[in-house]
Amino acid sequence: MRKLSLLSQIVKQSAIRQMLKEVADLRLKGIDVIQLSTGQPSLPIDEQVFEETVAEMRKNRLLASSYTPTKGLRSVLEAIQNDLKVFGNIDVSLDEIVITEGATEGLLLTDFAILDRDDEIIIMDPSYVSYAQDAIIAGAKPILVEQKMDEGYQPNINRILEHITPKTKAILVATPDNPTGRVINKETAKALLDIAEDHDLWFIVDEAYKHLIYEGEHYWFWRESRARERTICVNTFSKDPAMTGFRLGYVYGPKEVIAAIEKFKQYSTLSSNTPAQIAATIYLRPEVKKRILEYTLRIYRSRRDKIYESFKEYLPEANAHYPEGAMYMFANLNEYLRKANMNDQQLMLGLVREKHVAIVAGSSFGETGKNHMRFTFVGENEERIEKGMKLLREFIDEKTVNASK
Ligand SMILES: Cc1ncc(COP(=O)(O)O)c(C=O)c1O
Repeated sequence: MRKLSLLSQIVKQSAIRQMLKEVADLRLKGIDVIQLSTGQPSLPIDEQVFEETVAEMRKNRLLASSYTPTKGLRSVLEAIQNDLKVFGNIDVSLDEIVITEGATEGLLLTDFAILDRDDEIIIMDPSYVSYAQDAIIAGAKPILVEQKMDEGYQPNINRILEHITPKTKAILVATPDNPTGRVINKETAKALLDIAEDHDLWFIVDEAYKHLIYEGEHYWFWRESRARERTICVNTFSKDPAMTGFRLGYVYGPKEVIAAIEKFKQYSTLSSNTPAQIAATIYLRPEVKKRILEYTLRIYRSRRDKIYESFKEYLPEANAHYPEGAMYMFANLNEYLRKANMNDQQLMLGLVREKHVAIVAGSSFGETGKNHMRFTFVGENEERIEKGMKLLREFIDEKTVNASK
């Protein structure tokens, strides 16, 4: 009997993509679903960026429909270089940047570039669904280190140290974080760099949400010269410009890592979507990006406030981390789940099927996310966010009555 590869049986399905499919199926039936699950903003791409991209494509149809160099168009690489200078005050040379198919390709190819079979990579638990699976695909071993709500979800330096072995090759963190919405503070950032330096590790920073910060500020690791030889920063055009479907991102890091990523990219996607590179070049004009960020942050902040406030109102016995950044609120619903005799996966599936509200089970992000739920707050307006919370409470109450019968 013909068999699939062992790897294809080991790698897990992404719960977020499963939920997206569930929502799409309900919508196909004409059902209105409140979408608090995937990291998909409800805002479309900015009109100016869109119109100028289309005009540019009309002007140069051959360029718009051609392959680009694997590393990316020179114009977009230069725009990224300028952007990192303007927003991050860091100098990055062109051979320290590579364009990728979203942060997703950037994260996977980074692992291919730095990990060998049986190497260990330290990631946080809970954390974004790709990290552990990418490490497994690359043949390495993800080592999960708990980050706790009562520690503000800051990576715990002592716990990380306890998990370092001679096989540890890298540490990966996201700031701001998905699913918790926490922003790494300066003290923790410096301590993480110390660990990477003391143990001579690669240090991967997922900066997908670096511009979506409501309190505090982004720690630009590359501002520290000691960080540059080992720090690899993975970025995307999915989130702040709301261009998820354009599938474009980039990685900046040490030259040799970038060259290795470029080599793998020659065989994974060859080059990234050309129209998206044109759009990114327009978005990265400082005046355009500043205008868009101001608009987007105002809307997202208000939705963040709304979700936290209505969560407190409808689920007062639950605990949520107040998200300082990104698009998500992560909450512990243990009390309610216990009374309703359900786990977080059952709540996720029951809620979307019976009340048409989509949220993601916390255990999808790791063991420690059990009995937690992740709520995305950028996909719906304030009114629908509140309606979603109300329906969640209604659903829990119904299940609690049934459980006590
Ligand atoms: C932390 C984080 N990294 C990476 C990604 C992947 O984004 P993309 O491939 O769209 O750039 C996501 C998507 O939600 C994310 O939350």
